[in-house]
Amino acid sequence: MNNDFSSPDNGFQAIRFDGRVLRLLDQRALPARESWLDITHVDQVIDAIANLMVRGAPAIGITAAYGAVIAAHARGDDRAAWGEDLVRLESARPTAVNLSWAIARMRRVVEAADHIDPEALLAEARTIHREDIAANRTMAELGSEQIESGSGILTHCNTGSLATGGIGTALGVIMAAAGKGRASAIFADETRPWLQGSRLTAWELARAGIDARIIVEGAAAALMAAGKVQWVITGSDRIAANGDVVNKIGTYSLAVLARHHGVKFMVVAPTSTVDPDMTSGDQVAIEQRDPDEIWSAAGLEAAPGGFSAWNPVFDVTPAELVDCIVTEEGVFKHPYQFNNTSSVSRLPFSKKL
Ligand code: MRU
Repeated sequence: MNNDFSSPDNGFQAIRFDGRVLRLLDQRALPARESWLDITHVDQVIDAIANLMVRGAPAIGITAAYGAVIAAHARGDDRAAWGEDLVRLESARPTAVNLSWAIARMRRVVEAADHIDPEALLAEARTIHREDIAANRTMAELGSEQIESGSGILTHCNTGSLATGGIGTALGVIMAAAGKGRASAIFADETRPWLQGSRLTAWELARAGIDARIIVEGAAAALMAAGKVQWVITGSDRIAANGDVVNKIGTYSLAVLARHHGVKFMVVAPTSTVDPDMTSGDQVAIEQRDPDEIWSAAGLEAAPGGFSAWNPVFDVTPAELVDCIVTEEGVFKHPYQFNNTSSVSRLPFSKKL
């Protein structure tokens, strides 16, 4: 099994690929069981992304890139069939742009060579993975420098090693802040309905030996009113060109609460999460998932049988509610200074002088 990526500061490696077999830590089973899936067919990759065995914007992009390699081995030089596999991979989930961004990179490899070369595709997938590890590390350093000593921090969803290729986005910043002794207290909200906060973020923090507390989402306002947090820090699945942030449902509520209570709001995301083609967040497709995820998450019957639900799993936080966006290219503070999107960077905003 390939171990190229496993050094301690790269975080826990939940995505492993030896060139033929993709190993994923099954996130549905955590924290009860650490069980691994061995994946050898593109349909299994699609299933793993669609059914949240692997989740988190950068993680699904990396997984899809390895899926494109698996498809290449199966399809030989049948470019049409490989192309159809990539369309299906790209459609596994709609909201995180990292998925289509990674697929576009894999397509460009085949277009440049004018044939399917599994080794060239593998090299590109590994580059995508390595770039994410490096971006995570840079963001952890840049973001943690923004945190004043003695700050309480609240985070949402799961944005650590399980959600990325490396140490994480928001959780990477939080862990780095904790390492520097700047975080006086860390709170993770449970993140209904799939419980990414209480199942996955808590698992990662416990594994790293970092003390933290879980809150139910309804406790966030009281937590802020009690003065226990000075920062809310989240990741993102897609950042629009105007700075609107699409992220896990509940992020918008936290941003509104944070502004009301004078708590700062930081979004941490690699540039692969920025979508310059979306002029604002309302253009982004918001995934709706099965209401069954609401009924069953706590293992209890949470509503009368046959009841219906509205279950969007992402929301849009308006740019003006975000104090800063941390990427591997720097820290951008609102109000942003916009520029024309260049081919060098996906970022439509530049650093304020
Ligand atoms: O539905 P999920 O669990 O894939 O949603 C994940 C999130 O919303 C994360 O906050 C986001 O992907 C950023 S993770 C680095």
